[in-house]
This record gives sequence, C-alpha cells and structure tokens, in this order.
Amino acid sequence: MKLTSLLAGCVVLGLQAFCMGAQAQGVLAPTPPMGWNSWNHFAEKVTDKDVRAAADAMVASGMRDAGYVYVNIDDGWQGKRDAAGNIQANERFPDMKALADYVHGKGLKLGIYTSPGAHTCAGFEGSLGHEKQDAAMYAKWGVDYLKYDLCSYTENLKQRAGNDHAKSQAVMEEVYRTMHDALASTGRPIVLSLCQYGWEAVWRWGAETGGSLWRTTGDIEDNYASMERIGFSQAGLAKFAGPGRWNDPDMLEVGNGGMNSEEYRSHMTLWAMLAAPLLAGNDLSKMTDDTKSILMNREVIAVDQDAAGHQGDRVYTEGPLEVWSKPLADGSVAVAIFSRWRMPLDFDVPMTKLGFGENEAVKARDLWAHQDLPEIRGAFHTKLKPHSVVLLRLSR
Ligand code: GLA
Repeated sequence: MKLTSLLAGCVVLGLQAFCMGAQAQGVLAPTPPMGWNSWNHFAEKVTDKDVRAAADAMVASGMRDAGYVYVNIDDGWQGKRDAAGNIQANERFPDMKALADYVHGKGLKLGIYTSPGAHTCAGFEGSLGHEKQDAAMYAKWGVDYLKYDLCSYTENLKQRAGNDHAKSQAVMEEVYRTMHDALASTGRPIVLSLCQYGWEAVWRWGAETGGSLWRTTGDIEDNYASMERIGFSQAGLAKFAGPGRWNDPDMLEVGNGGMNSEEYRSHMTLWAMLAAPLLAGNDLSKMTDDTKSILMNREVIAVDQDAAGHQGDRVYTEGPLEVWSKPLADGSVAVAIFSRWRMPLDFDVPMTKLGFGENEAVKARDLWAHQDLPEIRGAFHTKLKPHSVVLLRLSR
C-alpha cells in the first residue's frame, strides 16, 4: 500500500482513508456547542447571581448530563477600563475569576461577550483597540468561549468599505481574525463565535477567520413567525457546516413563553436538523416539565450532536409542509416533517422523496414519542397539528 495523500486529518492508503476524529485534530467545537446564554431572558440586566443560578440549574435539571456545558454571559457584564486599559466587569459582576471557578467547579464552561467596536450593541464598553488585552483578561479569568458581536463596528465598516461588498467582507475577516489570533496567543482554548448577522454570506468565509460558529441571521424573537422565518431560511447552507464549523441561526427561545409546546418542539427539532448550536435562552431556574422534556429530549439532541456533523437540509416542500432530512453517522437518516400551517393537516410523504425505494421496507422510530413505529412502505402517513412536527429516525 502506498501513502498517497495527507489531507485534512485523513491519511489515504490505497483505496482507504483513515481519518482522525475532529477531536483528535484539536478542533474546538467538534459538535455544535451546547449550553445556555443569558441574553434572550435576562438581556443587559444579567447578574453574577443569575449566571450562578443558571449553572446550578444546568446541573440539577440534568441539562449538563444531556450535553449542555457552556454558561454564556452575553452583553451587559462590562464596566469601565482601569488606568492601564484593562477591562473591568461592572458592579453586577463583583469577581469574574470567582464566577469562572464556580462554573468550572460544576463541570461546566464559561462564555463571555464583546464587540470589535468601541461599544457593544447594548452600549457597553467594546474591545476596539484592546483586542489582545481583552483576550488576555478573559484567559486570566478562565473564559472558554467568546461571542464577538459586530455592533458599533458597523460604523467603522461603513467608513472603511463603503458599499464595496468584497472590501466589507475583507474588513470583517480581518476583524474576526484579529480576535482569533489574540485568543490563540493566550494559549487557552477559547471557542470564537462570530456574530455579524450573516452579512456578506459569512458561512462561506467564517471558518477561515478561525471562528467555530457564525450567526447566519438577525436576532430571533420568542414567537413562531420569527423562529420559522429564521429556521427555514437555512435551506442550502448545509454544505458550509461540519465538525469545527457551524452555522448559527441564533439561540433557543424554548421555555420563554411566546410559543406553545408544538411550536417549541418544532423550534428544537429544526435546530437539531440544522446541526445548530443549542444554547438555551430561558430562565433555567424556573422550567416547567414540558420545557425540560423539550430541551432534554436525548434522541433529538443526538440528531443535533451526531458525530458525522452533517447539517440537514430541505428535501421536499408542499405549501406549508416542509420535509427536511439529515444523514447520520450510523447510516440512518433523521427526517423531520413540519407543518407551518395554523390548521391541522393530514400528509403522506412518499418514501421515494426520502431516498428509499417505492416498495422498500423502512424501519422507523418516532423521536418525540420515543417509540419504534411499524415498518413503513411506500409512504409515511401523518396527521399534523398546527405548527407541529414529526421527527423520525429511518433506517434500512
Ligand atoms: C445583538 C446580538 C444578540 C445579542 C445582543 C446584545 O443584537 O445579535 O444576540 O448579543 O446584540 O446586545
């Protein structure tokens, strides 16, 4: 056998490729990051106490054991810089290092937030001109994840690039690479999450800056119209995602109260099909059993976290019906059938649309009902409640 190439962690020997897992290659986010983020519920009023309560609840509820590990503080923690230019937390966060130790002591990781601009979106101190200094401070505190939100740098971008799209992309690449390099130079592994709302098709170049994930859209709101607009707009982006490089359609709203259970199940399912980061955005210390059952459905989480790292895509649509599929590492396929309609609907999905033969016997498991179904042949018949979803795992 001849060693023919050594590419992207794979050694090709004769006709066979031997690949190291993404983890073995030192990829920071081999599967989509899972955790919690303070913004959707606490916004800029978040406190040290809220973050500790979230960490406590992640352990007590079983979320940590289901895979949620990042406790991410979004905008609102920043205070002023000291005379030497070092960033300080504000009075709501008396001791960041102690907070990081607390979070780490629970087997969790800490995330933080800043902007390449002079100010963050909520008007707090940004990192412009202090990138290295801030990265060093985060590393000193014990931060494991940084969300880097363009915010006021939009003005700088306009000045530097005007309406020139290529230039605008180049400037954003430079900005994100600068922070990536600053984080890398600390020697602490810190996941870099790009947030610039999907501008200039970031999915095409986000990974080149050293980011592990990038927001592909504007901000989600806690209602079905926002969730479906964002979620279903992700069709076609699958080819840009994979281990270490994830499209991020924004954080979860599950449990925040603006959608019903069917709608939140659709939200969770769609994000799992998209191999999206699963960052809960609710108050974890006050979760109903229904919210817990949605966030902690391990069979759905397994679809999101599947080791092959394929993002799912739309395979079929008929009016308000959407059929999406996601190939999984064991050769099975996750299939989600969504109804965007506000009335009940009966629907037959021809198995040929899902890549199976017309008369092929297909094994099926319903991942929300936690039940194996009778073998499917020809078509899958389902009754869909308004704004609901059926999620199946299908195999030959
Ligand atoms: C932007 C981001 C949000 C959140 C806020 C904080 O709007 O897109 O996710 O971080 O800023 O101010």
